[in-house]
Amino acid sequence: MPVTLIIGAQWGDEGKGKIIDVLSKDSHYVIRFHGGNNAGHTVINQFGKFGLHLIPSGIFTKKATALITNGTVLDLEVLLEEIEQIEKAGIQVKNRLIISPRCHIIMPYHKLLDKLYEEAKGKGKTGTTGRGIGPVYADKVSYNGIRLYDLLNPRLFSQKLQTQLTVKNKIITALGEKALSQKEIEKQFAKFRQKLKPYVKEAYPLIQQALEKKQRILLEGAQGMFLDNDWGTYPFVTASTIVTGGANAGAGIAPRHIKNVVGVVKAYTTRVGSGPFPTELVDKIGEKLRSEGAEFGVTTGRARRCGWFDAQLIRFAAQINGFTDIAITKLDVLDTFEEIKVCIGYTLNGKPVSYVDGDVEFLTKIKPVYKTMKGWNTNTKGTKEYNKLPGNAKKYLQELKKLIGTKISYVSTGEKREDIIIVK
Ligand code: GDP
Ligand code: IMO
Ligand code: MG
Repeated sequence: MPVTLIIGAQWGDEGKGKIIDVLSKDSHYVIRFHGGNNAGHTVINQFGKFGLHLIPSGIFTKKATALITNGTVLDLEVLLEEIEQIEKAGIQVKNRLIISPRCHIIMPYHKLLDKLYEEAKGKGKTGTTGRGIGPVYADKVSYNGIRLYDLLNPRLFSQKLQTQLTVKNKIITALGEKALSQKEIEKQFAKFRQKLKPYVKEAYPLIQQALEKKQRILLEGAQGMFLDNDWGTYPFVTASTIVTGGANAGAGIAPRHIKNVVGVVKAYTTRVGSGPFPTELVDKIGEKLRSEGAEFGVTTGRARRCGWFDAQLIRFAAQINGFTDIAITKLDVLDTFEEIKVCIGYTLNGKPVSYVDGDVEFLTKIKPVYKTMKGWNTNTKGTKEYNKLPGNAKKYLQELKKLIGTKISYVSTGEKREDIIIVK
């Protein structure tokens, strides 16, 4: 199966990094194709523990080449730090990481504008990661972006930066911040230019060649389906396209090549930042999920909001993305719960409704309908065979499969690479 696409099926942090690390062992290419360093993908393997923001989680597979393609936006400082960190762990990055010159660069004013927009929204803030993601994508689609192509051409870079600062500094100073200095930015980015040059190369021919040779490609989705700019809980979303189609635009791979679409789903639900969350638990159970699941953000360290599994959402995610497989993660986190609830649908004023029926105001008003299942009170951490799972855990998984309507092919039972059940 040449191309496999991994997509987060909730609000991010489903454990995509872990699943990609497992699946990448058979891959020739692992590709980050959207989002930026708002992502934080945890990988724990024999090389150590990593929270990757930009470098594809497949970098640890020796024979794999890691690609960052055009749909991704880059904070160059974060990228260089990450390269250094991985090399320190003994992993070769040079000649194994290729970055598309079409990638847009997160500039210092993008981060500042992100903060200023959040402040202006006050209580209604999105709760962004503060990494400049919204502003950089806004500049991309309004033809004001600066790409790696431009960085490599000092004259063009300087010109474009000047145009942007003419507008951006007016906004920045009007909102009480200090204007940014062109000279300082150019000085800083000259260093980035020199360090990054060896990695920048158009990845398209390589990908097409790989497709022709039927080599295996793994597409590493970031964020989660309900943060999708069109289909998520707008405006509490991120700026990029998370659904399957984003891979075509962001990596240059035609949809017909994508044979497997794996939806990564936590055995319960979490969300960071603001926005509706129908099954959220703001009680002791929610706290227990947070502490058992160590639910704190990899990128910002914020406590994640926690709640029960929402099958209404995942069924929708499976449909719109065409999931061929599901990977359930963090099953072990539920080991000590007496009862586990699953949201099987929503009602509004006593009538059944669904996710697509309304906007965020609607989603904050709807009431989840729960099915209660018995817990298993058994340690499942590190279980590697489906048959070794306790009966009630199997029942829980079977119920999820039925509600989602897609086969469960992987069950993750711990943080480490080897804590995985490949369901036959
Ligand atoms: P991603 O953004 O989707 O890659 O997910 P994150 O890395 O942000 O968050 C997932 C967290 O859950 C990380 O701390 C992982 O180490 C951890 N994790 C992943 N799979 C499992 C699992 O099956 N069990 C447990 N207990 N932790 C897991
Ligand atoms: P991974 O890849 C969880 C959320 C932010 C905020 C909203 C908009 O690790 O799953 P942004 O900074 O993108 O403008 O913020 O999106 N968000 C994520 N939440 N995991 C992520 O990535 C996220 N990337 C963005 O918390 O609510
Ligand atoms: Mg994450």
